[in-house]
Amino acid sequence: MDILIIGSGAREYSIGLSLLNDKRISNIYFCPGNGASLLIGKNIDIKGNKNIVAFCIDKQISLVIIGPEQPLVEGLSDDLMKANIRVFAPSKGASILESSKIFMKNFLHRYNIPTANSIQGNNKDILLDFIDSITTQNIVLKADGLCGGKGVVILNNKLEAKETLENMLSGKLFGEAGKSVVIEEYLDGFELSVFAICDGEDFILLPVAQDHKRLLDNDLGPNTGGMGAYSPTTLCNDELLTKIKDTIISPTLKAMRNEGREFKGVLFCGIMVVDNKPFVLEFNVRFGDPECEVILPLLKTPLLDILNAAIDGNLKDFKYEVLDKYCVGVVVASKDYPYSSKANEKVVFNDINYTSNQASHISFAGVSNINSNIYASGGRVFVSIGIGDNIKEAKDNAYNLCKNISFNGAQKRNDIAFRALNI
Ligand code: AMP
Ligand code: GLY
Repeated sequence: MDILIIGSGAREYSIGLSLLNDKRISNIYFCPGNGASLLIGKNIDIKGNKNIVAFCIDKQISLVIIGPEQPLVEGLSDDLMKANIRVFAPSKGASILESSKIFMKNFLHRYNIPTANSIQGNNKDILLDFIDSITTQNIVLKADGLCGGKGVVILNNKLEAKETLENMLSGKLFGEAGKSVVIEEYLDGFELSVFAICDGEDFILLPVAQDHKRLLDNDLGPNTGGMGAYSPTTLCNDELLTKIKDTIISPTLKAMRNEGREFKGVLFCGIMVVDNKPFVLEFNVRFGDPECEVILPLLKTPLLDILNAAIDGNLKDFKYEVLDKYCVGVVVASKDYPYSSKANEKVVFNDINYTSNQASHISFAGVSNINSNIYASGGRVFVSIGIGDNIKEAKDNAYNLCKNISFNGAQKRNDIAFRALNI
């Protein structure tokens, strides 16, 4: 069978890597893919839902996996389903959990799913009153619409919060996406990335991961799409996991059915744990990046079986197995990330095998391929993945691999997994 993966990042590359050795799969297509995915599959550059559907019919694609949120919001999975093409991704209606923070917060409040106290909308007077009523020192402002992961601002006091609110409502800060705003109380705890594979009614949880959103060591510097991740995290025990299932994931799936927005696909819950209690920070309707890159190598059960069980509504009694291992991913980004994502620097590999090593490998993202050479083309360039019997070993394997790969202006954090290692 042939498979199509939509997207161009390390997340999509890692999905391709997971499927690569499955004997049932003949061809993996990436749309549009990157300068390294063409080495493990075929890149195609097709735009527009209609053209993607036509390609799938022409090539008799057996399964489409959609990586990023934008095509989901544009209804690609609905158009594929209408054409009877198997797709692993939620519908446009269900994707609203990620595409509108206002919908998401109202939904959580409506169904009593734990989340930070908040108010939302575009009525300046009401929003200003709420800022005045907040009792926490820090205040969080979020653009309603999609901003490529950059629509959240954390302010140190009420004055700053009011100024930022003005700039959002006027469209100065985030354009149209920020003209409606969520304001919420600051939650002080630690974050987890929890991924539920859902079939509409039932779900399975993948190993829990922790992302590192800030650019610099010790969680300093600006927010990014994620500078590294590890999984499973020892910060999440069984008791906490049960609370996450019972107070967040089960009620969310039930409520989504109730709203006529049945959720099939990956539900990514960004969770803040405060005093051993989980709160929803955000939902995404896709795999996290770089979390996906550190979770998929831990699966013992073939990824294809898991995705098929979700599509066919068979997760109720589905058992899946993971390796008794840990995985750490270190993102290597180009010079001006996250401010600019343009670069053209040759990537130099020091005589290493980065594809078929048991202990480490690379998942490529912002790279192009020029005359069979890999060039860093900007943004997050690659993720160095280490696997080990404990987090320390996995971390050492990841850092040892990326020591051997370089390009001008490369930047990375040196402390990925520090929270788990400092316990
Ligand atoms: P979001 O896209 O909503 O997950 O927000 C991006 C990041 O901002 C999160 O990963 C947190 O680090 C931070 N954040 C968002 N909301 C809150 C909150 N209510 N309290 C503390 N930190 C938050
Ligand atoms: N790593 C966070 C995200 O994918 O949104």
